[in-house]
This record gives sequence, structure tokens and C-alpha cells, in this order.
Amino acid sequence: MAKEPVRVLVTGAAGQIGYALVPMIARGVMLGADQPVILHMLDIPPAAEALNGVKMELVDAAFPLLKGIVASTDAAEACKGVNVAVMVGGFPRKEGMERKDVMAKNVSIYKSQASALEQHAAPNCKVLVVANPANTNALILKEFAPSIPEKNISCLTRLDHNRALGQISERLSVQVSDVKNVIIWGNHSSSQYPDVNHATVKTPSGDKSVRELVADDAWLNGEFISTVQQRGAAIIKARKLSSALSAASSACDHIRDWVLGTPEGTWVSMGVYSDGSYNVPAGIIYSFPVTCKDGEWKIVQGLPIDDASRQKMDATAAELVEEKALAYSCLA
Ligand code: NAD
Ligand code: LMR
Repeated sequence: MAKEPVRVLVTGAAGQIGYALVPMIARGVMLGADQPVILHMLDIPPAAEALNGVKMELVDAAFPLLKGIVASTDAAEACKGVNVAVMVGGFPRKEGMERKDVMAKNVSIYKSQASALEQHAAPNCKVLVVANPANTNALILKEFAPSIPEKNISCLTRLDHNRALGQISERLSVQVSDVKNVIIWGNHSSSQYPDVNHATVKTPSGDKSVRELVADDAWLNGEFISTVQQRGAAIIKARKLSSALSAASSACDHIRDWVLGTPEGTWVSMGVYSDGSYNVPAGIIYSFPVTCKDGEWKIVQGLPIDDASRQKMDATAAELVEEKALAYSCLA
């Protein structure tokens, strides 16, 4: 029997990530090749005409899984009954800006969209915040939507996770699908800590540690980390626009694994509300290694943390605590 359609909201749908993301969702990349979807697309009035153009193209692409389209500039209408909300709407960072420079513009959007989601989304709606500063926008959304369970609110660090997999795959000339269990700790910012201490590569003689195979700690502790931390800025410099296709693809990975589960023995990175695991301060949205099953994520516990990692995990946590204070001062 055909499945009931899932309603997926994409905010900022007329923007560049939106343009890459909506066809992926309509093709089943996010929720599976047998899962019909109804796309809800929200943007602001100046983008209404462009949003209508995206809607026309979705119709023209005749996606078999796409069972309906809601395109609106009204947040209440766009949020009505949605089961998954991918929050991309906001102002992107330009060359020379840090992600927290876009804070003032974006946190007020997330405060008001929190209410729209709280009032109109389906119960148990899963929320993924992509727009920067992603962790702090997600935190503001959580704080101003108290009836949405905190476990349902997350932010995107899967792009950073995938970037780390990509760097290791290139360095070792191995398939990216054979590399697993990197971790992005902390903020989706240049303070994030891409950690390979538990990462492995599948080889004909079993899984081997990335540290052992790379055999170059100076690279792993230096250039590897800074390349992943600075990749967003490098894309902006090269494209004069921030990453879009990789962000859209990673957003699909994030929701797919959350809803359908992570493969046995594999974890992924998600920005989630800290419960104090690994002595990360509670009350911030921090990226942790997680496994997902039956639509729920769980932080991977008990990984040994060395002193160098501890320092980097604490530094990115401190930045998030500072961003939280800044966000509240912007809202005041
Ligand atoms: P973009 O400017 O092309 O698109 C953003 C869209 O949001 C625009 O169409 C704009 O009209 C719309 N918008 C603005 N305010 C809105 C509101 N209140 N409600 C609904 N829509 C609104 O930007 P983009 O390149 O698509 O990037 C979107 C966001 O994602 C940026 O904040 C960017 O920095 C961030 N980003 C995050 C990641 C990540 O890994 N977390 C990766 C890439 C980009
Ligand atoms: C990215 O990581 O590519 C995005 O967050 C865009 C940015 O501002 O870096």
C-alpha cells in the first residue's frame, strides 16, 4: 500500500540552498524512494515571484513522489501540518564576515518562526536549522517554542562531518563511503573541532584507524582541522556565494539518518541540545556524535577524550555560550 505523504517545510526556499534542496526532497533523497512528499516552501514577500518560479519548475519536473506544493510568504500557512521543517531562510554570510556577524539579522527571524512552528506544525515535527549562526538560531527556536520537545530541534553540522570524510578520503585515496566515525564537536563555525581519533576506514583486512593509515599526526592535527573549519569560507571565496549543493545534500543526509536510522556501527554528527554529555555545558546546541534509531537520536557515550581534544571541545563550547548571550542581547 502506498505510504501517506510526509509534509516537508523548506524556509528560504527561493534562495540558493532551497533551489538545490527542493528537487532532492521531491526525488526521495531525503526520506526514501518510496516516500511521497508534500513540499511546503516559505520565503519573504520580495522573493515571492522567484518562489513561484521554483514552484513552476517543480511542477515541470513531474516528480512522481511529489504529491503537492504549498508556496507561501505567510509563515502560519507554510508551517501548517508539517512533519519535517528545514529552516534555511535567513541572510547568508558574505566574504570577510564571521558567521556570528549575521547574528542580529537571523536570530529575530528564528524567534518569530519558533511561534509559527509551535502553533501550526504537526505534533512531533522534526526541525533542522541550516541558516547561520545555525546552532544559536536552533537554540533561539527551541527557547521560543517551549512546547516543541527539545529532542526535535537540531542544527546542521553534517556538512562539516561530510567535509571531514571527504578530506580523509582524498588524502588516503579511498572511497568516501569507506570512511566513517569522524566527529564534529561544537559550533558550526571556525571554532568547531573535527576529530578523527575514533574514525576508521574499511579495508580488505577489516576496519583500520584513520590515524594509523594517514600516519601523519602533524597533518591530522593541523591542516586537516583548519581545512574543515575554514571550508565554508573557502567556498565563499571561490564561488562568491556560500555552499549550496553540499549544504542541501548534507541536510538530506541529516534528516534521512534521523528518520530512517544510522547504519549499524556508524555514527554521524548532529547539533543537538546538550544534556551535559562529555562535560559540555547544558543549555547550548552543540554538535555531538549521535546514532539514530526509530526516529530518535542518541549521543554516543563513553568515547575516550584526550587533553588536546578536551581543549578544543571546551573552546567551541565557550564560543557557543558567548553566542547565546549575544543572541539574547540582539533580541533585547
Ligand atoms: P540565500 O540568500 O540564497 O537564500 C536565503 C533565502 O532566505 C532567501 O530566498 C531569502 O529571501 C529567504 N529569507 C530571508 N528571510 C526569511 C524569512 N524570515 N523567512 C523565510 N525566508 C527568508 O542563502 P543560502 O545560500 O540559501 O543560505 C541560507 C542560509 O544557510 C544562510 O544563513 C547560510 O549562511 C546558511 N548555510 C548554512 C550551512 C550549514 O552547514 N549549516 C551551509 C551553507 C549555508
Ligand atoms: C558553510 O559552512 O558553507 C556555511 O555555513 C556557509 C558559511 O557561511 O560558511
